[in-house]
Amino acid sequence: MSEGVQIPSAFTPRVFSGIQPSGGLTLGNYLGAIKRFVDMQAEEFETIYCMVDLHAITTWQDPADLRHNTRELCAGFIASGIDPEQSILFNQSQVPEHAQLGWVFNCVARMGWMKRMTQFKDKAGKNAENASLGLFGYPALMAADILVYHATHVPVGEDQKQHLELTRDIATKFNHDFGVDFFPITEPVIEGAATRVMSLRDGSKKMSKSDPSDASRINMTDTADDIAKKIRKAKTDPEPLPSDLDGLAERPEARNLVNIYAALSDQTAEAAMAEVSGKQFGAFKPMLAELAVEKLSPISTEMARLMDDQAEIDRILARGAERAREITAPILAKTYDIVGMVQS
Ligand code: TYM
Repeated sequence: MSEGVQIPSAFTPRVFSGIQPSGGLTLGNYLGAIKRFVDMQAEEFETIYCMVDLHAITTWQDPADLRHNTRELCAGFIASGIDPEQSILFNQSQVPEHAQLGWVFNCVARMGWMKRMTQFKDKAGKNAENASLGLFGYPALMAADILVYHATHVPVGEDQKQHLELTRDIATKFNHDFGVDFFPITEPVIEGAATRVMSLRDGSKKMSKSDPSDASRINMTDTADDIAKKIRKAKTDPEPLPSDLDGLAERPEARNLVNIYAALSDQTAEAAMAEVSGKQFGAFKPMLAELAVEKLSPISTEMARLMDDQAEIDRILARGAERAREITAPILAKTYDIVGMVQS
């Protein structure tokens, strides 16, 4: 059990998390999410991981790219250590109960709550009038993803914190409105040294698959040469690394590289700092590049191998969806019953 994780009493411990197939996987997704998913699979939880294609289409996706990215994301999960027998691994659109519960939650969530979502503001940008209605409603569907499994724990990166608070608000309001104790109040699990991996070009921006600059991120499909080159060129400052983490407070780019080093080497940021303190970037960057290549290259090689057999990936997704529906169908049926929908 992860440190500090509390289990809401009446519910079986169950982990759910999702990733959008809206582009390639980045090192941010890997360290902030997938690596944590693998750790939780090894603990005593039931683990359910989803490629959230319904969320992806809240912004424009080319259909061929969406298909490719969904399969590649599935390959990325497996290559990183998710076992599709032990965990349930599937894409969201094959489990219709997500969208069905999402509709009920559209009627529970309040406009005022949704308007406060910073991710909507970031993604809609200056032209919010032209954003899709789906993008605005995105967090209600995300709450449905989680609660349609009665999931108790959700491992995510820092940027999803507000969405998980909204999930708790929706569960609380539903339970209160209908006088039931039906949906659990989910615990976010935001842990590890790299809950917010930053751009390699700008330490104030999150590493993101949608950043126009490819040099800003490490993609999980990058070659060893690309990885080494991007780390070598990563923005830094002229000072050597300080003796402790406090010395990195005003040095976001340096702090980011130390965090990445810590997460890749399975250490706390404090332990990693002790190992690298006093080093110049000329010495630290090659160490980091070597570690990143050692950890990431086997994953990209395995992803490529898995992508050679797409029929097998599709079989895994279909089987995952079938197993998921064994959980979601009764929870949706009970929700409809609580709400008062006549079901014959
Ligand atoms: P998405 O697809 O943007 O990202 C997937 C996961 O990767 C984490 N992440 C990061 N972590 C650290 N540093 C970064 N730079 C970084 N970039 C991304 C995200 O925090 C996330 O955990 N809304 C979600 C998908 C979703 C979901 C869900 C998650 C839909 N339904 C239900 C959990 C439960 C999203 O857009 O993730």
